[in-house]
Amino acid sequence: MSTNSIKASSTFFDRFNNQDIVKFSLTNQNNVTVSAISLGATLYEFSIPTNTGRTNLVLNYPNSGDYLANPFYVSMGIGRTGGRIKDGQLPLNGQTYQLQTNEGTTTLHGGPNGFNTQVWDGEIVEEDGEPTIQFHHTQLSSEDGFPGDIDVTIIYRLTNDNTLKLTFEATALNEDTVFNPTYHTYFNLGDNDTILKHNLQVNAEQHLEFDDKKLPTGNFLSVENTPFDFRQTTSLGNAIQNMQNTPEKGFDDIFKINDDAINNTIATLQDPETNRSVSITSDRNGLVVFTANSFTKEDMNFSRTNGIGIPYEGVALEAQNLPDATRFDNFGDIIIKAGETKVHEIDYHVEF
Ligand code: GAL
Repeated sequence: MSTNSIKASSTFFDRFNNQDIVKFSLTNQNNVTVSAISLGATLYEFSIPTNTGRTNLVLNYPNSGDYLANPFYVSMGIGRTGGRIKDGQLPLNGQTYQLQTNEGTTTLHGGPNGFNTQVWDGEIVEEDGEPTIQFHHTQLSSEDGFPGDIDVTIIYRLTNDNTLKLTFEATALNEDTVFNPTYHTYFNLGDNDTILKHNLQVNAEQHLEFDDKKLPTGNFLSVENTPFDFRQTTSLGNAIQNMQNTPEKGFDDIFKINDDAINNTIATLQDPETNRSVSITSDRNGLVVFTANSFTKEDMNFSRTNGIGIPYEGVALEAQNLPDATRFDNFGDIIIKAGETKVHEIDYHVEF
């Protein structure tokens, strides 16, 4: 007899590019469900029971095809490298590797053949008496243009204290390379169509300065006396209001996580109306906050709003190492040496 306290299942999701896409689910003792689809190892559902049914706290689409029909990476797995690499040129070991580009001259989120475009091999794997979802993919250099092949496993674990633990494990198979994965998870914790009534707290004294292509200059800017100051719990709607004179009309920014917050809670998002919150713990030194400023009605077939996209419909919180890290001395280490394995983790703890 099974004594698992977490229930697991897998079902056919749809067909995409002549491949079967599979949906895997885990449900804990509090009736919290996490599910993921094999296209992009995408976080499809993080749902909680409510008085009237269930609410999904992350944005999703009904069909696989919707995910790649727009530039928004909705809750998808991102790699090898989250964020932008200048001119698609990766400095590594004294050489410069020309990568594939997908935003003008820039390589964004691993380029046009990054993790999010791959159909991952998924399975339910029992570990320490509980089921987990494990996605596996060997990302080839010939596929995405980065040096070396890497063997990658993304593991979803759900606990009975309502924490989703996402682990990335990568082994560099034949050459030194880089690994800076993240999840492009868009949260909307409330019952409204936007996150303007949410509060955000981020353990960051500084954020990155960008050039006009949103590439880091290498400078850190203080959050003090700016709309970027989320050190205390702050209204996201008010902060977005204070960003209306910027081209983005909201946040699309990278916070440098304070050293003492790394491996601890780096950020907390909450919805005061419903009293729901998510706290993010991670070993990474950066957090992208993207308030979906540029969501449009086109190609945005969201389940939540019955087919349309709306600016500020969700907020993407992407824990990652600061981007383009091999171009700067003080952005952190994203290199994996040939034969080496690196592991990163992002945990999301929900309360409701
Ligand atoms: C974010 C990035 C944004 C935008 C978004 C996806 O990580 O900072 O500029 O590209 O991803 O639409």
